[in-house]
Amino acid sequence: MPNVYEQTYRRAQDDPEAFWAAAAESLYWHRRWETVRDDARPPFHRWFAGAQFNTCYNCLDRHIERGRGKQLALVYDSPVTDTVRRFTYSELRDAVARVAGALAAQGVSAGDRVIIYMPMVPEAVIGMLACARIGAVHSVVFGGFAPKELAARIDDARPKLVLSASCGIEGNRVLPYKPLLDEAIALATHKPERVIVVQRPQAEASLVAGRDLDWRDACDSAAPADCVPVAATDPLYILYTSGTTGVPKGVVRDNGGHAVALNWSMEHVYGVGAGEVYWAASDIGWVVGHSYIVYGPLLRGATTILYEGKPVGTPDPGAFWRVIAEHGVSVLFTAPTAFRAIKKEDPEGRFMQQHDLSRFRTLFLAGERCDPDTLIWAREQLGVPVIDHWWQTETGWAIAANCVGLGMLPVKPGSPTRAVPGFDVRILGEDGAQMPDGEIGAIVLKLPLPPGCLPTLWNNDAGYEASYLSRYPGHYLTGDAGFRDDDGYLYIMSRVDDIINVAGHRLSTGGMEEVLAFHPDVAECAVVGVADAIKGEIPIGFVVTKAGVTRGEAEIVPELVERVRESIGPVAAFKIAAVVPRLPKTRSGKILRGTVKKIADGQPYTAPATIDDPAILDEITDALARLGYPKPA
Ligand code: COA
Ligand code: AMP
Repeated sequence: MPNVYEQTYRRAQDDPEAFWAAAAESLYWHRRWETVRDDARPPFHRWFAGAQFNTCYNCLDRHIERGRGKQLALVYDSPVTDTVRRFTYSELRDAVARVAGALAAQGVSAGDRVIIYMPMVPEAVIGMLACARIGAVHSVVFGGFAPKELAARIDDARPKLVLSASCGIEGNRVLPYKPLLDEAIALATHKPERVIVVQRPQAEASLVAGRDLDWRDACDSAAPADCVPVAATDPLYILYTSGTTGVPKGVVRDNGGHAVALNWSMEHVYGVGAGEVYWAASDIGWVVGHSYIVYGPLLRGATTILYEGKPVGTPDPGAFWRVIAEHGVSVLFTAPTAFRAIKKEDPEGRFMQQHDLSRFRTLFLAGERCDPDTLIWAREQLGVPVIDHWWQTETGWAIAANCVGLGMLPVKPGSPTRAVPGFDVRILGEDGAQMPDGEIGAIVLKLPLPPGCLPTLWNNDAGYEASYLSRYPGHYLTGDAGFRDDDGYLYIMSRVDDIINVAGHRLSTGGMEEVLAFHPDVAECAVVGVADAIKGEIPIGFVVTKAGVTRGEAEIVPELVERVRESIGPVAAFKIAAVVPRLPKTRSGKILRGTVKKIADGQPYTAPATIDDPAILDEITDALARLGYPKPA
């Protein structure tokens, strides 16, 4: 007899349109759809075509009209400023309507883009929802990116307006954001007409006359704006993510399908009910922040936590437990790296014991591979189920998970469990044939994708097809490799491209190589992600200097580190590099990054038969030993 998960999965497979139409009934549609899934222009399938919808209305107004106005919608908890601010659904709606009015007063209307470059302050969430309210398309850029990266996003999204703040606060450091934004706008070809700035007392920003407005001034004078229904297929947001080159990909999210998928996931993946407190300890700059700090919990009528702090150091490794206890959190979602950081500082879980975690029910982890040690440690310390689940910016919600709301399946540490209803996950070999159970292949999703996943890339249908759909026709390429076991459990083992995952942050080593290659002393280079006890992976650079360069590692490496920081940003966490005589390559000139990674990770390796000269691997081994990576036995 199939269990509830299996029955649900089957229903979603057998009749996806009936399945998702039923899920859509929980939301409010200004006009109902004509087609649940419009397949007229494959591979560009569109969900809820013909419908009129407003995401902000469904996140806020709908709940107020149904009596949730006095319930908490958003709790901002900021240990770095020693602040807690609470917003009921009514208060949040009013704040959002006012900012929406301010945007409208500046000429922003449906379809216009707004870049949001902000730290974890309530105004960031309010700004996102305000865009959604008037049908504008937001694009949030993570604060840890450098001006050059921000400029690339400004040029691609071509925003009419930018919402920003004077500074962010990282631990005990105040980081002025506004100079970075000013520099980005100077670098960008496209010039936004307006910038609205939240002035934080920790570092006030100077405003450019005629272009910049103080957030308070802009909002005080604005009349609240009502929700503007848009086509369900219209874009809600663009979120840029690392691709296989230094050029970021603008992942588009629609309104209707996104809301249906997230609302369904809150109940069935996370098992969260309206009125409960749900906390995604991530950043609004990442997809986890979009889906599960902002949209998912609010669509569900839950209370969401916006946490401006770290798992450790703000002030101690008990920070998460304090937040859970103080705000009555039922479900926490974070990245394994946060737990590795906590475990390092508090291996016995002493800080945990100082807080009342009785209402805490489930921990979800995602964003990077979850090593079984971390999962088991968290489970033993917390005494609640710990669920690894797997997804990516492009899908917007979980591809594989233990769907707690459908009845928990046994947990197998190392596996994010089984495909979530709606996703047809296949493991394919080089030739496109399905791999037998237990054998590694490329993980793909059979088209069409369920609602919530990217319909395309911003202004780049061809790029969407080339990046994701061309390798295995009829399938979406996730970029991950892995296998399925006899029970249908998936195991996500590695990327098939140059993406690495540093502290749950997705980065392209190709992008870092592009930066290193520009250094005047560098002839060629390679960047490889190697295992790190806390961050999961960190990038290490190997450079070969040009003939005649006499400067050595001690001079060149700090310059390389600084260049990556300046070009990509501190989030790249690029701190280690070595100057080597040669790079290991195949005879056809392909750099053997995989072998270098194995050496650094202390894993057994064999020199590929196609290697140019095996002695080069010894040179790499020596360089790694110099950097503190012991030679493999
Ligand atoms: N604005 C500006 N700079 C930022 C930033 C932001 N929003 N976020 C990070 N940075 C900076 C950091 O200050 C750091 O700079 P430094 O090199 O000058 O010290 C750098 O980017 C790297 O940051 P991070 O990778 O976060 O490392 P960390 O040492 O500060 O913290 C962890 C490590 C594990 C505690 C932290 O990454 C974490 O809490 N991760 C878990 C959750 C998470 O956010 N996951 C993301 C997706 S779910
Ligand atoms: P992002 O788009 O930033 O969310 O990163 C997505 C990528 O992170 C995926 O394609 C995987 O490579 C990795 N990832 C996310 N979650 C998991 C997980 N649970 N297990 C293994 N890898 C994961």
